[in-house]
Amino acid sequence: MSILKRLAALSDVSKLPENPYPPRKLLPYILHFAKQQKKLLAIQFTLNGTAALGLAIAPFFLKKIIDIINAAPNPAEAWPQLIHPVGQYVAIALVLRLIAATCYNALNATLFTSTYTHAIRRQMHWYMLRHSLSYFQNDFAGRLANKVFDAGSSLREIVLILTGSLWWVTVSIIVSAFSFASSSYWLLTPLAFWLVCYVFILRFSIPSIRRRSMAFSDARSASVGRTVDAYTNIQTVKLFANDSAEDNSIVDSIVNARTHHVATHVAVFKMKAWSDLNNTLFMGNTLALALYLWTHGYITAGSIAMVIPIAVMLTNQAGWIAQELTAFFEHLGTAEETMNVLVQPHTLQDTAGATHLRVEKGEIRFENVTFRYHPEGDAVLNKLNLTIPAGQKVGLIGQSGAGKSTLVNLLLRFYEVNEGTILLDGQDITNVTQNSLRSSIGMVTQDTSLLHRSIRANIAYGNPMATDDDIEKAARLAQAHDFIRLLSDKDGNTGYQSKVGERGVKLSGGQRQRIAIARLILKNAPILIMDEATSALDSEVEHAIQENLQTLMEGRTVIAIAHRLSTISQLDRLIVMDNGQIIEDGTHAELLRKGGAYARLWSRQSGGFLPEE
Ligand SMILES: Nc1ncnc2c1ncn2[C@@H]1O[C@H](COP(=O)(O)OP(=O)(O)O)[C@@H](O)[C@H]1O
Ligand SMILES: [Mg+2]
Repeated sequence: MSILKRLAALSDVSKLPENPYPPRKLLPYILHFAKQQKKLLAIQFTLNGTAALGLAIAPFFLKKIIDIINAAPNPAEAWPQLIHPVGQYVAIALVLRLIAATCYNALNATLFTSTYTHAIRRQMHWYMLRHSLSYFQNDFAGRLANKVFDAGSSLREIVLILTGSLWWVTVSIIVSAFSFASSSYWLLTPLAFWLVCYVFILRFSIPSIRRRSMAFSDARSASVGRTVDAYTNIQTVKLFANDSAEDNSIVDSIVNARTHHVATHVAVFKMKAWSDLNNTLFMGNTLALALYLWTHGYITAGSIAMVIPIAVMLTNQAGWIAQELTAFFEHLGTAEETMNVLVQPHTLQDTAGATHLRVEKGEIRFENVTFRYHPEGDAVLNKLNLTIPAGQKVGLIGQSGAGKSTLVNLLLRFYEVNEGTILLDGQDITNVTQNSLRSSIGMVTQDTSLLHRSIRANIAYGNPMATDDDIEKAARLAQAHDFIRLLSDKDGNTGYQSKVGERGVKLSGGQRQRIAIARLILKNAPILIMDEATSALDSEVEHAIQENLQTLMEGRTVIAIAHRLSTISQLDRLIVMDNGQIIEDGTHAELLRKGGAYARLWSRQSGGFLPEE
């Protein structure tokens, strides 16, 4: 037991290979992962081949034994001659085979299966995290996660089948051919006939099985995606009393998956039926031919005792291999799917020679920026120019859909601009590393989602080095400490240790925002962006936080987006956006005097009263 455990501890699945980028062609994709385990695979290949040889050669020794027994008048005279073939039988068919098979299985159980699967999942996840935001926005999270796991298991099975059953049967056929030939070359004819028919059957069945199983795998992951989507948005589903509509839509996709599943199985059935017929012919032909050859004195009785078990063994293995090959091509289909979905090029990459962003002052400049989400879509930002001097605090205003969030998301380089440049302290953000860019900007997003971890972990996300004291201090500044103290979860965790539910669903919108602000405070970045950061707070709490935010904003460049104008009216400068363009730019007083869009908005929100200064 301890040897097995020690074996299992030999490999480290957390390690990344030298080149962690998987290729985007099927064979190189499979080999990419196989190469990482080439020593182990070579050992497995050898062990399994030895075990297969040990078993396949047994009838050959049996033939020798029977021939000696048959020729000897009594056992006493037979025994001295029997020692040799019996010894070979024991040494190769029993002992060597047993040792090789046991070692092979032990390595599979401890090292190969688990290492291979999990190393691949780990590497795929690494690759996934480097995909752009839009990659994830265009797919179901559940479907993608499913694919990451499928990649591990399908790629493992492919290699396991190749070095396992396929290799086993190949060795068996070769050894059997030698055994047959050692008696009479004529015996090779039924074997060859069987083999040719078998290859034909596989050649015609497998492409159709493969096609169908790919369609099945597609349909299956689509239904997983739908299921996850419904669970994730369960509140919306219930709110609109759409349980049964959702149910139907999932049933549809499950029925669709089943149709493809049936089609796959029917194709498999056909292949099995044909190969069964082929097997039956093989066994019959071999027996008839062997009896004929024996009758005419070409082969011995021992040969008959050899060819029949071989025929039975091979047909048995043929059934097994048909199953294994079907599985093989199913896994090949799945692996190809995972490659097509997951191994898309990373669209937003650090440029070669990207430097580390150095923010000394914090000046932000948008120069002629044009951006559209889809190549054929309308421009969301159109030749936008905006310079925010270091340390300035800017309020961004505009109707929903005006492009405010897009503007700040571009500054974080979540998307690539189509034209123009965005500069931070004079450095083009496409020429600096994404990590250095994003760690220089603290942002509270419009819809804060939290990780399903403890409150503490969520706040410390802003700064993993933060101590408990730092975290509590930040929470107090964000007016979050008081409600955090009272939290508890179903596992009995309380306060900062309590878990928040997936995406933070167990907190109110305002509470989530306060956690996000605490996280922002801990991050201590030179540039702050607040996209509707306090929209879900009641005015009292907002007022309390506002004072702390003022302190936080000191000495930093700030962009604050808000619908509630009172939240941002005192900032240094207000910018009004409409349809992806800046239509007004000035201080609160200037814009009121101007009597344009801002003034109208202000008078609507303040009920027609001018503000008390
Ligand atoms: N991920 C996205 N993919 C495609 N279109 C988007 C995406 N996000 C926003 N948009 C579109 O871009 C426009 C501007 O959106 P946004 O910047 O979120 O506006 P605001 O924050 O001012 O309300 C809207 O028309 C919106 O539909
Ligand atoms: Mg927005």
